[in-house]
Amino acid sequence: MLGLRGEKPLWIVTFPKAPPSSSQGSDTKIKAPLLAVVLWLADEGAYKTIIKEAKGQDKNDFRQTKKTDFAEEQVSLPISKVRQKLNSLSNHQIQIARKTLAGWVCEFYHLMAKDLMIGFFFSNRDLVKISQNQTSFLLKAMGLETAYQGKSIQQAHVALPPIRKGQFFRRIELLNQHLKEKKLPNPLIHAWLEFERSFEHVVLS
Ligand code: HEM
Repeated sequence: MLGLRGEKPLWIVTFPKAPPSSSQGSDTKIKAPLLAVVLWLADEGAYKTIIKEAKGQDKNDFRQTKKTDFAEEQVSLPISKVRQKLNSLSNHQIQIARKTLAGWVCEFYHLMAKDLMIGFFFSNRDLVKISQNQTSFLLKAMGLETAYQGKSIQQAHVALPPIRKGQFFRRIELLNQHLKEKKLPNPLIHAWLEFERSFEHVVLS
């Protein structure tokens, strides 16, 4: 079930499932699918080629079933292929991916700030600055940046009103809707959401 012909699987995403144990996003199971988000942003065609190749190579290894938003979904791809494709992209394409990601994250923070349920957390905050740091945080988790200059997650939230479970999941749902609007493929949305969910125990009061 795992991996293609001995290669390391790019990801296995199964919903619903307990969130990954890592609280800092350093786990390779979390990083790997996020890397595929960069590939999709940089070159959608290259991402689709990888999917096609994976399907062609071993049909039993590629399963994708969709029932509901958080329905069970399984995808496995070799991380080496994604890295290989990323390495063949131009700097310009990677820059486009970074810029697009930064734009999406900034829009997401503005959506959260307007939300009736969680908007109050963001009043009088510098949304652009926070979103820039959040983008850098994501890029580090994706393996595209070696350093993250912003606050640690604990530090960032310590002075805020307590964040409750319902509020945490409201953020996840807003991100889900946002990424759907951007037409990011489902497996990549689920991977990104799983990354966010892995911080539940760090963020909740
Ligand atoms: C409902 C859930 C959440 C709320 C309401 C929330 C709210 C906030 C707010 C208001 C800030 C700015 C703090 C400041 O100005 O100093 C912040 C910063 C930050 N948040 Fe969250 N957050 C939530 C969940 C998360 C999650 C799940 C992650 C990680 C994936 C995360 C990562 C960060 C990071 C890295 C920063 C620091 C940015 C910086 O250095 O400026 N947050 N958050």
